[in-house]
Amino acid sequence: MRTFRRERPLRCILAILAVFLLILYLRDLSTEDSAYVVEEDVMRAPMQPERVPPPPPVKIIGQHKFMDDGLLEVNPEGIHPVYELIRRAEDAWKDKLRRASTTFPEAVTEYRRRYKRDPPKGFDDWWRYVQKHNVQLPDEYDQIHADLEPFWGIEPKDLLAIRSELEAKVDSYTIGKTADSQVGVVNTSFTPGKHDQLIVRSVNVIDLLSDVEEYLPPFRAVFSPHDGPNRLSDYFVEDAARQAAAKQTYIRRKDFPKITPKGWKSACAPGSPGRDESINLDGDPPPKTTKKTFIHDHNLAMNPCLHPRHFWLHGQFLSYGKGPTPERDMVPEFSDCSSTIHHNIHIPTPYGWVEDISPRSDDPPWDDKVDERLMWRGSSTGISHNSRTRWHNSHRITLMRVANDLKGTMGILAPWKNAREAVGEPIEVRKARVNPGVMDVAFAGDPIMCEGETCKELQKMFPWRRRQSVQESGDYKYVIDVDGNGWSGRFKRLITSNALVFKATIYPEWYMDRIAPWVHYVPIQLDLSDLHDAVIFFRGDASGAGAHEDLARKIAIAGRTWSKTFWRRQDMVAYFFRLLLEYARLMSEDREGMSYKGDGEFL
Ligand SMILES: *[C@@H]1O[C@H](CO)[C@@H](O)[C@H](O)[C@H]1NC(C)=O
Repeated sequence: MRTFRRERPLRCILAILAVFLLILYLRDLSTEDSAYVVEEDVMRAPMQPERVPPPPPVKIIGQHKFMDDGLLEVNPEGIHPVYELIRRAEDAWKDKLRRASTTFPEAVTEYRRRYKRDPPKGFDDWWRYVQKHNVQLPDEYDQIHADLEPFWGIEPKDLLAIRSELEAKVDSYTIGKTADSQVGVVNTSFTPGKHDQLIVRSVNVIDLLSDVEEYLPPFRAVFSPHDGPNRLSDYFVEDAARQAAAKQTYIRRKDFPKITPKGWKSACAPGSPGRDESINLDGDPPPKTTKKTFIHDHNLAMNPCLHPRHFWLHGQFLSYGKGPTPERDMVPEFSDCSSTIHHNIHIPTPYGWVEDISPRSDDPPWDDKVDERLMWRGSSTGISHNSRTRWHNSHRITLMRVANDLKGTMGILAPWKNAREAVGEPIEVRKARVNPGVMDVAFAGDPIMCEGETCKELQKMFPWRRRQSVQESGDYKYVIDVDGNGWSGRFKRLITSNALVFKATIYPEWYMDRIAPWVHYVPIQLDLSDLHDAVIFFRGDASGAGAHEDLARKIAIAGRTWSKTFWRRQDMVAYFFRLLLEYARLMSEDREGMSYKGDGEFL
């Protein structure tokens, strides 16, 4: 009896279990059908609007506002802005390709037209290199000009003195070449004990230059071994130098205007939003417009003098509170990256460069990539996370928050509107319905750059996953690239893959004149306010409704082609070669003698 009584409940449980399994089985049989029903349902009510938006005015197709701070302000009566941004960018890019010089005389003429002076001595050797290695867009080196132009307004003797002093400053290494030596490290100045760690970057730099060292004039250039830029500009000092350069004269070092130490704001022009007296870098950020905006000019959109909220949104700025004292002089220091308010000279950094994703099987073609979420994995870099820093707003934290937030709603522009109808007002959708389906953004490994309790806080706040292999990341169609402690060294790898890259940064890089946002990648604002709209335009909502996969595929493929055509080793060498010809002339006491005087008829 005892056993019987014991068995009875067991039988009951087994019977219930059997019925349950049967139900599951039957449900399974009908999965295919019901899945279609669900799909249809979602298609009919895309993105599940929280409140019904007013019907869009379809007759009037309004103009979006292209603002001179690099942003486009959306007019709800215009078409979805991404159509227009892509079309404009493609036209401008084709135009740039069409205009490119094809002969040396053309290149010389174009140089003189742009920069109002002769090319540097050795320009003909440079042109031969460019021709031999099929380097594209041989006129598009405005970044070099932008970096070096203020130094033209400084007496070469003074520049040489500034450079000598710089050689003594920690941390730096100096690369040089004399009339009869090869390119190599000629001096170092590092924090004691840091030599081996900090000299590493020089290895690839010297390796790049070795390809052309026989053509390089003697030079001596100081490099920063760190990730970020370090020479903050004082607006008035830089402006005085630029003005002198424009008048083809010099300003003596002793005659530089006195700096106005206002931290980061020192670099901004009077009257610019970044220098606004009402902005307190220790207080709250200025409010942002409630209008939808997108980037139409990535360089301008990076500039914190035009977008002072950047000071509150990026570790580069947040790490130093109000910001450091600006430089008293213009300091010719080369570095892997620079911001628009620093005057470090950009190098075509070899750091992170890859020829290709290898093996190629780790990077399937677009249509074979299965994951349609936007992917990011990375470490908690960008700022030191501790009780003394304002790390809560730093850029990687912002990415984690924006992509993983489940509370509340956000406004999204309807992606399914075609290129002839008004996009209308944004549709309010629940973040909980968008983020889990659309974003796969997590920190990888364990918290770093943090102390004690803050590490635990980070661990709790956000998802932490294991690191992905290259093969795993190859499964994603959409990836985002954000800055770390400096510029993002992984962009080269990402844009070489068959994925569509979204990129948010404050560091314009050496190739900015030679790439086209919206043609080769998708530019995203630092606050990521346009991220969901851009991603959903390409991949559609959580169910795929409104996707423009053809456009996404096109940009992804154009990005990879660009990488293989415009960012080869030879492209970096060509940039460096030209940069050092310019630099050697700049530092020469006989700049005229270091110029190319011919008419280009050498062939
Ligand atoms: C190297 O830099 C130091 C300062 O750190 C300076 O005193 C020295 O003269 C430099 N060496 C050469 C060879 O110029």
